[in-house]
Amino acid sequence: MTRSGGPAAPPTAPHRPDQLGAATRLTTGWQESSRAASLLRHTERYGPLPRRGSGRALIDAVGQAGLTGRGGAAFPTGTKLRSVASGRGTAVVVANGMESEPASEKDKALLARAPHLVLDGAVLAAGAVRADEVHLCLPRNREWLIAVIQDAVAERQRAGLDRVRIEIHDLPHHYVSSEESALVHWLNGGEAKPTATPPRPFERGVGQRPTLVDNVETLANIALIARFGPAWFRRAGLPDAPGTMLSTVSGAVTDPGVYEVEVGTPVGQVLAMSGARPDVDHVLIGGYFGSWHQIDQVASLPLAPAGLRAAGASPGAGVLLALPPDTCGLAETARVLTWLAGQGAGQCGPCAFGLPAIADDFTQIATGRLTGPALERLERRLGTVTGRGACRHPDGAVRFARSALTAFAADLKAHVSRRTCLAVRRSEARRPVLPIPRPLGMEVWQ
Ligand SMILES: Cc1cc2nc3c(=O)[nH]c(=O)nc-3n(C[C@H](O)[C@H](O)[C@H](O)COP(=O)(O)O)c2cc1C
Ligand code: SF4
Repeated sequence: MTRSGGPAAPPTAPHRPDQLGAATRLTTGWQESSRAASLLRHTERYGPLPRRGSGRALIDAVGQAGLTGRGGAAFPTGTKLRSVASGRGTAVVVANGMESEPASEKDKALLARAPHLVLDGAVLAAGAVRADEVHLCLPRNREWLIAVIQDAVAERQRAGLDRVRIEIHDLPHHYVSSEESALVHWLNGGEAKPTATPPRPFERGVGQRPTLVDNVETLANIALIARFGPAWFRRAGLPDAPGTMLSTVSGAVTDPGVYEVEVGTPVGQVLAMSGARPDVDHVLIGGYFGSWHQIDQVASLPLAPAGLRAAGASPGAGVLLALPPDTCGLAETARVLTWLAGQGAGQCGPCAFGLPAIADDFTQIATGRLTGPALERLERRLGTVTGRGACRHPDGAVRFARSALTAFAADLKAHVSRRTCLAVRRSEARRPVLPIPRPLGMEVWQ
């Protein structure tokens, strides 16, 4: 699944989106082997775990590097480290390796190939915020990945590498169980369901202690910044969005997989790397909390938060999915909305009632079997759900639904006049495109 070039010198300034491209930092050595790098191989690739410098120095370096979270929200990592470090009492680090976004493969690929880079980052972050525990959260149904990480931790223990305790946890895998307050709630003995915030984890998290929750790709980048410094980090990417990112590209492409690209590489270029079919019209950017777009409107835009904002998009966790031209985007969206509606924790009104009703309206439109004015009803419901949940689950689903109504506006006309588009009939005859995980026992949240 994974594609990346061989080791290469990081690109140098000037940073123009059309000059950015593939990079090999996190993916060093992935082409040689698809197996997890041993501690020895990892040290040969990146050098030993840096020991010098105060925690404060690393926090400053991460701030100067301009690293932002790679879990979806792109929050500045240096700011988060500083907040946790200034909290009262001994802190805790939580590494988020849950990757509940079905169209994303990047965290799984990174953990499976470079477990020590992630663990280095978690241990270094723990040193920086004065934490004495690292909790690595993984989905329970990925036993093979849990085994890889257990081996890596055992290797480090034999080498006497880390002064902090590293614990691996297997959590129930629902779309919302990877949200940060859900991880904290589960680690505190509760269900893996989001909780109302504040307090946010950085204030009071695991054991009521200041808690740093970071995505595993973010932590791997901390390990690189600690070794090579902020100036090196900024030699890739854009000045306001430096570094590289892992992007999972799938759909109508010849080489689906995880690509490491400089942040800001044009969307069209990333799709071209993966061999996107030339007749593709639409792309999903950012996964199921992301948005649909017509390719010609986003191809030249940088895959970076600010660059995509004008188009109403966000890179999220780096998902790009090219919709095959003979596929009905509305039918695909309806299927995913139905799944998302079943993924909420059912604790808040928008999740328990709003999302199922939205999914139902959308399905009526997608199938052309409408009861009453389904589009008007849908638009009204989309407006009432936003901003009303305790977490961002309903907002993400609404953004996804709204973007489909805009991007597939031409098809929508046909669907609401009960004709459906031609593609919907072709889609019905073939396998769905957007991946949906096999159902788990939804009652399992513990
Ligand atoms: C419904 C929902 C699901 C999420 N799933 C993930 C996930 O699978 N992995 C992840 O790293 N962050 C996920 N997040 C974001 C986390 O809550 C949190 O912001 C992130 O782990 C912080 O790490 P970062 O700053 O390194 O990005 C999710 C957020 C929401 C609202
Ligand atoms: S909005 Fe949904 S997923 Fe989020 S806390 Fe409420 S019920 Fe749970």
